[in-house]
Amino acid sequence: MCGIVGYVGHRDCADVLLDSLSKLEYRGYDSAGIAVFENDKIITEKTKGALKNLKDKLGDGHKPKGVCGIGHTRWATHGEPSDTNSHPHGSAKVSIVHNGIIENYIDIKNFLIDKGYEFASETDTETVAKLLDYYYDGNPVETIKRVLSEVKGAYGLGIIFADFKDTIYAVRKDSPLIVGVGKEENFIASDVPAIITYTRDYYLIESDEIVTLTKDNIEICDIHGKQLVKELQHADWDIEAAEKGGFEHFMLKEIHEQPTAFRTTIKPRIMDGMPFIEECGITREMLAGYHKIFIVACGTAMHAGLVGKYIIEKLARVEVTVDIASEFRYRNPVITKEDLVILISQSGETADTKAVLTMAKELGAATLSVVNVKGSSIARESDFVLYTHAGPEISVASTKAYMVQLSVMYLLAFELAYARGVISEDECRKYTSVLEEMPEKINEVLKLKDRCQFIASRLVNSQSLLYIGRGLDYALSMEGSLKLKEISYIHSEAYASGELKHGTISLVTEEMPVIAVATQSDLLEKTISNVKEVKARGGKVSMICSEKVDVDKEIANHLIKLPDVEDLFMPILAIVPLQFIAYYTSVLKGCDVDKPRNLAKSVTVE
Ligand code: F6R
Repeated sequence: MCGIVGYVGHRDCADVLLDSLSKLEYRGYDSAGIAVFENDKIITEKTKGALKNLKDKLGDGHKPKGVCGIGHTRWATHGEPSDTNSHPHGSAKVSIVHNGIIENYIDIKNFLIDKGYEFASETDTETVAKLLDYYYDGNPVETIKRVLSEVKGAYGLGIIFADFKDTIYAVRKDSPLIVGVGKEENFIASDVPAIITYTRDYYLIESDEIVTLTKDNIEICDIHGKQLVKELQHADWDIEAAEKGGFEHFMLKEIHEQPTAFRTTIKPRIMDGMPFIEECGITREMLAGYHKIFIVACGTAMHAGLVGKYIIEKLARVEVTVDIASEFRYRNPVITKEDLVILISQSGETADTKAVLTMAKELGAATLSVVNVKGSSIARESDFVLYTHAGPEISVASTKAYMVQLSVMYLLAFELAYARGVISEDECRKYTSVLEEMPEKINEVLKLKDRCQFIASRLVNSQSLLYIGRGLDYALSMEGSLKLKEISYIHSEAYASGELKHGTISLVTEEMPVIAVATQSDLLEKTISNVKEVKARGGKVSMICSEKVDVDKEIANHLIKLPDVEDLFMPILAIVPLQFIAYYTSVLKGCDVDKPRNLAKSVTVE
């Protein structure tokens, strides 16, 4: 949610900021802006809409010339997207960019209005900028400390003071911030993709640490002024990973990266043919002892958790509940010290998921996170972390991150089942070897994209769709439906097939296409009966099933047949056509596939 960047060095600062912001646009794209020192003066340029609008505006000779500045790409929280509400905000003395939410901004605003301050925007951020102006005493770090003592909320802040034209200040609390380390140049950013063109070395900044950055020097101190020595991090992926590489959209590229991401994620966790997750600190003995397992996450990550529940319960015979983090955190759940709480998050920064982590720790449960972004808050704060290795996921709609989350769910299920003595070593080895074959099978499914594109062409004019399935297929239907609505803006609902006749089937007409996911042989006959009921009412059905089943041509209008694998592993394959169908529907509708309206990749506010 919102991306902040800052640059000080020897290059054209505006160019670097615009380039870095283009790598962070997935965090928000309602508006963008930069503030750069030009001849000792802070020049601010900002505009509503995508970064392209700002680039177009600056293209006509309005680009400030300088080597030090800050930039922002916005996902609006306080105040609609507009030129005035765009960041940076500031005064003659100071300029800031902000990611997060200032909870007590109204109190601060009232205090400052009493002191004679006027406000141009409706944002919470402007109150922090003006408070910095109010307390500024010639010492930036002391001023920042004073302001932070009065500010409540979450923030990643990039700050420049007019009196210090070669210096950027930065601080964070509960919003991500990194410092990129270059040669005679340094950076701040919300996330690694912003800096990867220039450097792979960076520091992770913790809450309440204050950074002072010049082109040759980086100072990091805590809130009491104590200088800190931090461990340098190194990004193990390069710029190609954060670029489209010849694909029309990041989403399409990321769908195609799934076999590799899957392989890279499971490889280090398989040893001598057995799952091996002890590297994260969680032992078989611990896994054998947990009383209950809670999986908590948001959106697509929660859908990966649903698949996890089915396979863990099936193989390990331990009770698993799956919850949406924003609900779970407020329903006073019954968690004990004997339980394991698993948090799944691509970004590792999702506010609700993070809040559940804090709550689970307070209640004494063990916490295990499955996270894609290295060093993110959830990863750092949980007892155990299993990183997924999808590389940067840029498209707002998650695809490869979901895929690798699934891969970890499988490994965990095998490990739990073996640790609890429910499956034998031979069975565990057999399951693990099937998992190792999945990247090849995913590759085969990628070849079905033309078929999916054809099906998308049949859906593109629909007002509404139904996704149906049973068991694991229901979990998949939920993810397929979410993918479609978020990027094509076509309403859709996922329904457990068996529930249709309890109300929802009344919606079915010729105008309501239905996508049936039917990969589970033990439930196939039942799902087919439900599909027949839909067809009998005029519904047009596209069905996704295994190539091993002989489905009567009359049953579905369109069929997608997946390579034959054991039912348990079918979700890994069935998700791919669902992703393609959503993708091509969005393309055919002319939507902005990678940056769907109203969304942001990393949801760091409630
Ligand atoms: C949908 C999507 C979201 C995220 C959700 C959680 O395509 O990406 O539903 O899954 O916002 O985000 P993370 O995984 O970063 O916690």
